[in-house]
Amino acid sequence: MDLPSLVDDALEVTVVGSFSRVGFVLRRLLFGWAPAADGALAGRTALVTGPTSGLGRAASDALASLGARVILVGRSAERLAAVRDALVATHGEDRFPIVVADMGSLASVRAAVGQLLETETRLDVLVDNAGAIFPERHESPDGIEATLAVLLVGPFVLVSGLLPLLERTPGARVICVTSGGMYTQKLDLDDLQSTLTPFSGPRAYARAKRAQVALVREWARRLRGTGVTINAMHPGWADTPGLAETLPGFYRAMRPVLRSPAEGVDTIAWLAADPAAAAASGSLFLDRRPRPFDRVPGTRLSASDRRRLWDMVVALSGAPDPAPKA
Ligand SMILES: NC(=O)c1ccc[n+]([C@@H]2O[C@H](COP(=O)([O-])OP(=O)(O)OC[C@H]3O[C@@H](n4cnc5c(N)ncnc54)[C@H](OP(=O)(O)O)[C@@H]3O)[C@@H](O)[C@H]2O)c1
Repeated sequence: MDLPSLVDDALEVTVVGSFSRVGFVLRRLLFGWAPAADGALAGRTALVTGPTSGLGRAASDALASLGARVILVGRSAERLAAVRDALVATHGEDRFPIVVADMGSLASVRAAVGQLLETETRLDVLVDNAGAIFPERHESPDGIEATLAVLLVGPFVLVSGLLPLLERTPGARVICVTSGGMYTQKLDLDDLQSTLTPFSGPRAYARAKRAQVALVREWARRLRGTGVTINAMHPGWADTPGLAETLPGFYRAMRPVLRSPAEGVDTIAWLAADPAAAAASGSLFLDRRPRPFDRVPGTRLSASDRRRLWDMVVALSGAPDPAPKA
């Protein structure tokens, strides 16, 4: 193994060194990351969920800087319009359509899918980024625990519904933003909806993120041969309104070493645009390198667990299996 890879692997073990800004800066130096070529996404269409704040806002800007037309998908038409106006002002072109969708409502996601299938002829990049942590357990309009609804089932319905567009677009890439917090939890498939134990928002979030990565692996298996790739990435720890609001103690303690949102989304832009990322599918990335799916003994999900999870999410989506496979 080469020296940068050895140093990177050692850094990964430290967690704080890896997830903080230190990890980002060191890896950029070690591997001599080149910025994506100007116009790398010119003529391409990207879609970002949760573009109104933090990482989604930064990802929209990064993809726009590479020349993409960026569809902004969020739950507030007003906040989306403000982001669109800011992007138009920065990039000097009106190539940022807005689509209203609450990722926690299946009807809302389906309506957005219907709209997109009518208006779009291609979809090169789909960034599943919207996310939230809830202090108390509550259910979506579809009777799904809200964390699971927003982080897992809504995005599943979005990707499923947009498959026809993705499949017709050569080299389409789906990028799911997960969290290193997922390493801390084992997914309990017998309690997917968090009803059997006292509710903890951060735990439900970490489990939903673990489920998201398990679904990415299952999607990749089922999409093999279609030309569509799907990967997860986690951004490390980035200075965003979401982090400040949901984990205030952690945010205050770590603030000096948090990544900027732009640093947090570097791997999203790389996965979206870099030729070196084109073949990857079913992996979990941090800082442009695949990382392990598990770090804590006893948290691993087997292939049959992943298939079981897939079937459970299909059932929760209330729609036929979008990619049936034995
Ligand atoms: N920041 C970090 O260090 C960190 C670390 C690991 C993973 N992440 C992940 O990165 C992603 C972005 O997080 P962030 O830190 O940028 O958080 P943020 O600042 O709170 O932004 C969250 C975005 O998600 C949108 N959103 C929330 N609930 C939604 C819903 N029901 N339907 C549609 N959109 C919804 C928000 O839209 P509104 O404007 O409508 O609220 C906002 O645009 C999340 O998936 C998060 O789990 C972040």
